Amino acid sequence: MRARRSCLAVPGSNPRFIEKAQGLAADEVFLDLEDSVAPAAKEKARENVVAALRDGDWTGKTIVVRVNDLTTQWTYRDVIDVVEGAGDRLDCVMLPKVEDASHVVWLDTLLTQIEKAHGLPRIGIEAQIESARGLVNVDAIAAASDRLETLVFGPADFMASIGMKTLVVGEQPPGYGEGDAYHYILMRILMAARANDLQAIDGPYLQIKDVDGFRRVAGRAAALGFDGKWVLHPSQVEAGNEVFSPSQEDYDHAELILEAYDYYTTVERRGAVMLGDEMIDEASRKMALVVAAKGRAAGL
Ligand code: GLV
Ligand code: MG
Repeated sequence: MRARRSCLAVPGSNPRFIEKAQGLAADEVFLDLEDSVAPAAKEKARENVVAALRDGDWTGKTIVVRVNDLTTQWTYRDVIDVVEGAGDRLDCVMLPKVEDASHVVWLDTLLTQIEKAHGLPRIGIEAQIESARGLVNVDAIAAASDRLETLVFGPADFMASIGMKTLVVGEQPPGYGEGDAYHYILMRILMAARANDLQAIDGPYLQIKDVDGFRRVAGRAAALGFDGKWVLHPSQVEAGNEVFSPSQEDYDHAELILEAYDYYTTVERRGAVMLGDEMIDEASRKMALVVAAKGRAAGL
């Protein structure tokens, strides 16, 4: 699994941001050809993105390009130009506004053809779920291609799609009262992802000066089990990496459970044992494995 705690959005039309992104500690960088690029700048952005993939130093990062959605005139040319131009530097193509499985199948087929024609390594797919239709079809979307690596929630488009009465992306809509208006959506995406062995990524938090707000909203998704979240600004990168990693204390505890459980089951041949005040068994081991894996990946 590739690291995706912080997924940095970088407009393909902004060479200065593309340059800067290379020096940031984001796990993933995605160069955007979609909504952060004005229609008049789409073609130049494609050229920038290919040049940046070829000439940039992206060592250690998951590298993705977001193409335009399938209702536009740009998508096929985005994929062909980027993959022919720099497919050997690319981990995944991100497809926005995926509404049903056929969208993913379309991209899979096109990638297969380009890879064959140019002898390229296999490229993965990230699918954005950002409409009511996409969410209703999320199970079929998640199973549509074995190139899929992750489902990505797109809160801004999603909120518009369902008619949510708010202008602040990721915050609770005014008047909702107690509870979390996003819980069902996030859980739905997470279930479809996990049922198909995919990662699940939360989308952007647009109040980029409010890092505490980012942490709070990211913390919700992290608590459910999401693997990471988009970041739009350097100030969000570090917060994202932290929120989606376990605390040192939890990591140490997870390693202790694994060690103790291994000892008791192999040396003492017991399945359920006490570790301090806590009873642990095989299911505890699985939970500890999740936290330990996240901690090891984070270098704890
Ligand atoms: C991201 O693409 C969003 O719509 O939130
Ligand atoms: Mg969107």
